[in-house]
Amino acid sequence: MTDRLSWYTIIAAFWMAFLTILGVNLVGNFIMYGNPLEQEEGKLEKFGFPIEVVEEAPAAAGGGPAQLVSSLPLVAAASVEDGAGVFKKCGACHTAEAGGANKTGPNLHNIVGDAIGDRNGFKTTDSLKGIAGGKWTYEILDDYLENPKHLAPKGTMSFAGLKKPQERAAVIKYLMSMTENPPPIPAAAETPAADAAAPAAAPAQPN
Ligand code: HEC
Repeated sequence: MTDRLSWYTIIAAFWMAFLTILGVNLVGNFIMYGNPLEQEEGKLEKFGFPIEVVEEAPAAAGGGPAQLVSSLPLVAAASVEDGAGVFKKCGACHTAEAGGANKTGPNLHNIVGDAIGDRNGFKTTDSLKGIAGGKWTYEILDDYLENPKHLAPKGTMSFAGLKKPQERAAVIKYLMSMTENPPPIPAAAETPAADAAAPAAAPAQPN
């Protein structure tokens, strides 16, 4: 009789051990990888305890958008031809030649250095008109083209922006070629971070 009873005991003991190991494993996995039921595929690279990696936006103090890398030093050497190529991204919504039609966006002839908004009878948003300074200086143009929502958060230009300084420099060169008397390109030293032109923080632009 002892035999049968002790066999049960042994089997039960093994089961207990097995279940314990399984349980520890599950709990361990849970801690390491999170609830498997909530895991989406491909998220397993985030294992272990969450280590908060705070990605520092390069030099962006004050939690604003990442600081703009000015494209202006590149404008002088940029080619109008390259700019015309980049302008194809704008062409669905803009023309730039004299007398060109408004499309989704206004005609951009004579834009460089000109007043912001109210071009060619186009109904500009208040957000765009509210950009400090009220003029398309090179700095403001550069900033706007990098991310139209930065300076005009409620503006209606649905365009992600030209992230590459080379592309912005080229398209600015192209817009200069479509402007009768473009103002001189500011020297590098006179080009403060265009971030300073952010609507909330900026004092009115001097020009
Ligand atoms: C999807 C359409 C669309 C695309 C693409 C687009 N824009 Fe615009 N753009 C607009 C609209 C709409 C406005 C008017 C914005 C407002 O009033 O808030 C505008 C406004 C502007 C203005 C301000 C003009 C003014 O009234 O003073 C400039 C400059 C400009 N766009 C340049 C560009 C350039 C350069 C590109 C290409 C790199 C581009 N846009 C791409 C739709 C577009």
